[in-house]
Amino acid sequence: MNFFLETLKVIVLLVYYLLESLVFLVVPKRKKNVSGEIVLITGAGSGIGRLLAVKFASLGATLVLWDINQEGLNYTVRLAKENGAGRVHSYICDCSKRQDVYRVADQVKKEVGDVSILINNAGIVIGKRFLDSPDSLVEKTMEVNTMAHFWTYKAFLPAMIAANHGHLVSIASSAGLCGVSQLSDYCASKFAAVGFAESIDMEMRTLRKTGVKTTIVCPYVINTGMFDGVKAKWPRVLPLLDADYVAEKIITAVRQNQEMLLIPRILYVLCFLKSFLSVKATVLLLDYFGSLEIMNPFKGRPKKE
Ligand SMILES: *[C@@H]1O[C@H](CO)[C@@H](O)[C@H](O)[C@H]1NC(C)=O
Repeated sequence: MNFFLETLKVIVLLVYYLLESLVFLVVPKRKKNVSGEIVLITGAGSGIGRLLAVKFASLGATLVLWDINQEGLNYTVRLAKENGAGRVHSYICDCSKRQDVYRVADQVKKEVGDVSILINNAGIVIGKRFLDSPDSLVEKTMEVNTMAHFWTYKAFLPAMIAANHGHLVSIASSAGLCGVSQLSDYCASKFAAVGFAESIDMEMRTLRKTGVKTTIVCPYVINTGMFDGVKAKWPRVLPLLDADYVAEKIITAVRQNQEMLLIPRILYVLCFLKSFLSVKATVLLLDYFGSLEIMNPFKGRPKKE
């Protein structure tokens, strides 16, 4: 195509896509049916993972639940069954170990079938200044929050591509969009998770495998216990998020094939500002919203819950 024709085409399509997204702000997109899908959730033994399991159960999906904590996992299985899950399969898996991910993934493929919705949700946080963070825990953060995504994609993406049907869901964080003091390794792992999921989405589009969808989720701090101790500076403007609200938003985004989900909405504004403001101005805003020292009162998930 010659340059002028292609430029014209792109301008027309740009305007069309812009109008389309404006329309979808007013008219909600249709939600796809997920009954019959095989949904794998890592880190299903607590927090958002557990809530997603319960919600997908009530939508009629077959559940494959992974966690490293047997007790938490059992409780999620019970809740999912009470909420109508036809089939629930649970597996102990240490997502920080590549061999464990591959071993359990093979077991899932044999015992349940091909996973069609993969939710990489398992995550850990140290919450210390970088120089106070033990090397082994820094490594574990990268292994669980990022590298487990590589291995689960390697295990389950081929079947999705073959069928041109599937959904890759990455539960990242607003810490995957903006650096935060005392979260350096966590931010690194979440930036990586966002970049990875976005790149695979691009690969699917260039391969014309548009039946394989991607949803990247970037929530602000959620009150699940993972960030125990952290408080909102201005709860009315930027509150800590209610876990059930976040889980509901995630389910809706997945069912509408939304590629990127930032929660709460003010994060879209803040990210837009950060993209062109000076660092000094950005820091002023981050301080105003309490993000600079947000990790000071951090205690982290209590050992037993
Ligand atoms: C979890 O459930 C399994 C199967 O029902 C049972 O064998 C196991 O003892 C339970 N473990 C814990 C820690 O609750």
